[in-house]
Amino acid sequence: MTTKKWWKEAVVYQIYPRSFNDSNGDGVGDIKGIIEKLDYLKELGVDVVWLSPVYKSPNDDNGYDISDYRNIMDEFGTMADWEEMLAEMHKRGIKLIMDLVVNHSSDEHEWFKESRKSKDNPYRDYYVWRSGKDGAEPNNWEATFGGSVWEYDEQTDEYFLHLFSKKQPDLNWENPKLRQEVYDMMKFWLDKGIDGFRMDVINFISKVDGLPDGEKVEGKKYVSGHQYFMNGPRIHEFLQEMNEKVLSEYNVMTVGEMPGVSPEEGKLYTGEERKELNMVFQFEHMDLDTQPGKNKWHLKPLDLRDLKKSLGKWQSELEDGGWNSLYWNNHDQPRIVSRWGDDKEYRVTSAKMLATCLHMMKGTPYIYQGEELGMTNIKFDSIKDYKDIETLNMYNERVIENGENPQEIMQSIYTKGRDNARTPVQWNSSENAGFTTGTPWIKVNENYQEINAEKALADKDSTFHYYRKLIQLRKQYEVIVYGSFEMLYEEHEEIFAYTRTLGDETLLVVTNFSGNNHAFDSTIDLNNAELLISNYDTAEKKENTFDLRPWEARVYKV
Ligand code: NOJ
Repeated sequence: MTTKKWWKEAVVYQIYPRSFNDSNGDGVGDIKGIIEKLDYLKELGVDVVWLSPVYKSPNDDNGYDISDYRNIMDEFGTMADWEEMLAEMHKRGIKLIMDLVVNHSSDEHEWFKESRKSKDNPYRDYYVWRSGKDGAEPNNWEATFGGSVWEYDEQTDEYFLHLFSKKQPDLNWENPKLRQEVYDMMKFWLDKGIDGFRMDVINFISKVDGLPDGEKVEGKKYVSGHQYFMNGPRIHEFLQEMNEKVLSEYNVMTVGEMPGVSPEEGKLYTGEERKELNMVFQFEHMDLDTQPGKNKWHLKPLDLRDLKKSLGKWQSELEDGGWNSLYWNNHDQPRIVSRWGDDKEYRVTSAKMLATCLHMMKGTPYIYQGEELGMTNIKFDSIKDYKDIETLNMYNERVIENGENPQEIMQSIYTKGRDNARTPVQWNSSENAGFTTGTPWIKVNENYQEINAEKALADKDSTFHYYRKLIQLRKQYEVIVYGSFEMLYEEHEEIFAYTRTLGDETLLVVTNFSGNNHAFDSTIDLNNAELLISNYDTAEKKENTFDLRPWEARVYKV
């Protein structure tokens, strides 16, 4: 049986501070704004907050480009505000995990400013510098935010590596001094009393020696180099060292953001005896509505059978060792109710169904700010209203430089753009949804009169109260945390159903991922079953065959 741990029993809430709540009217969310909403989080019942970066940053990538790891961004407040926030969280029994972004720093970090000065600068090897190849970049890898991963620097006539934007130079983990700096910085925060870290693209930190070219693609100048830096040769060694030198001294939670990780690798990262991380945050299910082999902007409708296959595989692979995060949303993903639910007629019902399907699985659930309100995607008419570097770079490259059809590109931005998740949290129906008294840094979704927290709190049938109940159930029934998982009806195209079993307790979870009615025929006897939660007013019917209504979800204890 799986060992018991507090972080397996927890529900995490992610705050993207820029868009959460603005206390001083400058249009940008801040730490005092978070403090104002802690009672709201307490009422929801979450155990842990994952706070996206609040460190000093020039904000090329909204804080994921850090120029000082030990100080707070001016727009967000001061260290004293942060300390007050932590104390206020702890007072309410809420833990805090901070974002650890150490695959790269900002180019405005002191280390990088030194590093670029000369080839013999003591900080030179904190980053990855190479000379050009035949008058061009050292290799052909494409950066996540477009263009080459290499930026030429005249000062020393060399290129530095940046897997993301050119203002996010990659740190050189081969250098033991750099690693020690990171460990010291982690201790700085842990000694302030935080409860753990979410680690940004942590499986990218070890690169294959020689940084070989990626496989050429006809008509493309830069190509994927993923196989040379995802789950690289020294990754487990680095994480074990970090664990030994830092994490083992604290009772904290760690979650590794890991694109391109398989369940087998996930087990290596999180198997308890291996002493690396507590859980993975993986992306396989998030890629299922992307055309195979293409980047995220190339859309394809989701086939529910693929989703079941993927999530089911993670459930079974990690059954006897390892631990996974459960999520539909974060600050990089579109809003789930717009993505795989129905954000029009069945917005509330489908949001609840999606929540049920996720929260009843095995793993630690994550709720991304506004998800508990059933917040939806955004559609700005003009590209000028978008703020995300990934979206803007892609638009520039494809529309401005390559002359592709702007309407088509806007469609993919509406579907996949990261700003979908980054519009301000809708608190009430006053101007700017109560997020700010000033001008918000990004426009508020116009539907805030209908979708907002004040309204949700007052309505006992809201998604908010439904999430609250899901969280309560997790506290009440061990089977939700520790039970084993079995997928049912694998080949059904619209029903996602499974059981969870612990000892003699079994839960049956049935969810309808469509606006169609389905006759559901339970092979499990429901005669003495108790309905734990449902998104419809379902009378306790003791029948094994029932009509599953549009986007319906039911959880039975049998
Ligand atoms: C993953 C983060 O979630 C994303 O927002 C960021 O742009 C990249 N890592 C780079 O830090």
